[in-house]
Amino acid sequence: MVQTLIIVGGQWGDEGKGKIVDFLTEKADVIVRFAGGNNAGHTVVVGEKTYKFHLIPSGIIHKGKLNIISNGTVLDPDVLVSEIKTLENMDFDIGKSLIISSSAHTILEKHRVEDNPEKNPESKKIGTTGRGIGPCYKDKIARTGIRMGDYVTKNTASAQKLRPLIQDTYIIIDTAYKKGKKILFEGAQGTLLDIDHGTYPYVTSSNPTAGGALTGSGFGPTKIDSVIGIFKAYITRVGEGPFPTELGTYNQTKNEDSIYDLKKELSDEAFTRLNRKVTSAANNDDEYSQGRLLRMQGFEYGTTTGRPRRTGWFDAVAAKYAIAINGLSSLVITKVDVLNHLKEIKICIGYEVDGKKLDHFPLDTEQQEKAKPIYTSMPGWDDDITQITSFKDLPKNAQDYLEKIEEICKVPISIVSVGPKRSQTIIKDKETLL
Ligand code: IMP
Repeated sequence: MVQTLIIVGGQWGDEGKGKIVDFLTEKADVIVRFAGGNNAGHTVVVGEKTYKFHLIPSGIIHKGKLNIISNGTVLDPDVLVSEIKTLENMDFDIGKSLIISSSAHTILEKHRVEDNPEKNPESKKIGTTGRGIGPCYKDKIARTGIRMGDYVTKNTASAQKLRPLIQDTYIIIDTAYKKGKKILFEGAQGTLLDIDHGTYPYVTSSNPTAGGALTGSGFGPTKIDSVIGIFKAYITRVGEGPFPTELGTYNQTKNEDSIYDLKKELSDEAFTRLNRKVTSAANNDDEYSQGRLLRMQGFEYGTTTGRPRRTGWFDAVAAKYAIAINGLSSLVITKVDVLNHLKEIKICIGYEVDGKKLDHFPLDTEQQEKAKPIYTSMPGWDDDITQITSFKDLPKNAQDYLEKIEEICKVPISIVSVGPKRSQTIIKDKETLL
């Protein structure tokens, strides 16, 4: 058990961090969101209720916890105010549970205009979320940005609403630490989207990695006890950029009907028939259908933009890179249930680039684009695992699959998630957790 814990996404974001943060928040006193802005989106399911947030830490729905949005973030005041109002309407006492750093940067109208992918070829090329994230960070680095402490001196409704929440947050975090409080640093996006360590230029403009938790909050590295990385049991990516284990092509994914449209257009029976057809093609070695099945079973459509996500097999080369960059203490593997009913499951253990074998993640964009996956193959399972609560009760093949990931990555798995609810969480090893 630890006092301070950083949670980062180990892939290209959307690893299911929201659910895991929510799960671990039960044990935390303070939750700190340290990078990014409303390009992120997390869904948390509690009982029968589903909550969607872009900026506010997932910890907010636990009463009695302190939630901090720290200096590394970029904040769109209108979005922030709207999330606060939604929560207030649900009787959450925001004044007692949310603090915003005076040095977080403000996303302004000009940033949103500059980031519009319809008008800006650069944003289109990267496939940004169009929320003004990159332009805001650009102003921060050019030292021309507006920090929240200055923004709230303005005489607008949003500024007035946010003013009472603004503080110098590093002191609050440090004081909590000295009092022995448990602190959880909640990452957004993922390692491969990091501005320094990701698949540049197809990245976001912040550091979602463990280092970003430190600079993004003003908390020193010697005070961190554990860093855990969240990985899906497969991998997804939204937007453009290299993707060695992609199943099917990006164009096939883009042209696909979204699951929401399909559910609207098709009767329940027709939808089940389609699902069966895709499963059968997937189990007949059709790669695009394997990717489509992951998308359909995993509801892989963006929380922020609704775009269908590109899907692929678990990439252990990229995972080992994430382990190195973040110094991961343990791995959390989410959405393992999405693999139910697959005959065969693959793990990428190396790349081939220009006929040469590569066992590490290359930083050169061209090599990343050329990388062809080398797979090891594991037998799948046909059982529904969504109600299983202990590791030893998982089907043998599911246990073997997860243990294979541990063996390749040489880092233990602490948590396995088999569904979106808090109850669908299996703790495998507590040592690195709060
Ligand atoms: P930006 O962060 O809006 O500038 O987008 C840059 C890239 O990061 C695009 O490819 C986005 O799709 C991706 N991205 C940003 N935030 C997320 C996220 O929360 N999940 C997954 N991808 C993201």
